[in-house]
Amino acid sequence: MVDARMIRRLHAADAPAWRELMLLALVREPDAFTSDAAESAALPLDWWARRTVDEVVLGAFDDARLAGMVALQPQARLRVRHKAVVSGLYVREDRRGGGLGAALLDAAIDAARARDGLRVLQLQASAHNAAALRLYAARGFVVFGTEPLAVRHGDGFVTKLHLWRPLP
Ligand SMILES: CC(C)(COP(=O)(O)OP(=O)(O)OC[C@H]1O[C@@H](n2cnc3c(N)ncnc32)[C@H](O)[C@@H]1OP(=O)(O)O)[C@@H](O)C(=O)NCCC(=O)NCCS
Repeated sequence: MVDARMIRRLHAADAPAWRELMLLALVREPDAFTSDAAESAALPLDWWARRTVDEVVLGAFDDARLAGMVALQPQARLRVRHKAVVSGLYVREDRRGGGLGAALLDAAIDAARARDGLRVLQLQASAHNAAALRLYAARGFVVFGTEPLAVRHGDGFVTKLHLWRPLP
């Protein structure tokens, strides 16, 4: 059972906790994300803090511990300001299967609805990521493209699916 009060927007002061969980996610699930763990670890804390301002980063809390997260990145350029990208959805392994991922995605969709002028959400998911794809489909995301060789992973590559969802 997920209490909606567990989820709130992260601010610059939350950047250390967000960075730590994001780096854990990149180490534990390298084929689920595009960012590289070492490359991301080298970024200054300011970079993470700035993203909490430029984007809507949402965190799910387990008491004081950050248990999951997702980011909503509204597009900046004038002609694509009706679109936002959902990224970095992650739930700690010991909290999975309890509705937190769905609650975070719902919170991101609600945050998008609350922003004037947003009409479209987009995201990418690895083609083999059955859990994430099932969740996205349940929330109205539809695949509109397949990108082979999208992200290097070890000696091979991950195929990415591109998904979109109209708002509201
Ligand atoms: C994807 C992820 C965020 C789901 O988080 P979660 O808290 O376990 O998800 P929930 O408990 O809210 O489940 C929501 C839905 O996701 C799908 N789902 C979750 N785990 C699943 C699994 N192991 N197998 C198949 N579907 C699954 C189901 O549709 C589920 O709804 P249902 O229980 O009504 O069938 C989590 O597995 C995760 O962090 N994975 C690693 C990172 C990742 O892949 N992120 C997405 C990048 S695109």
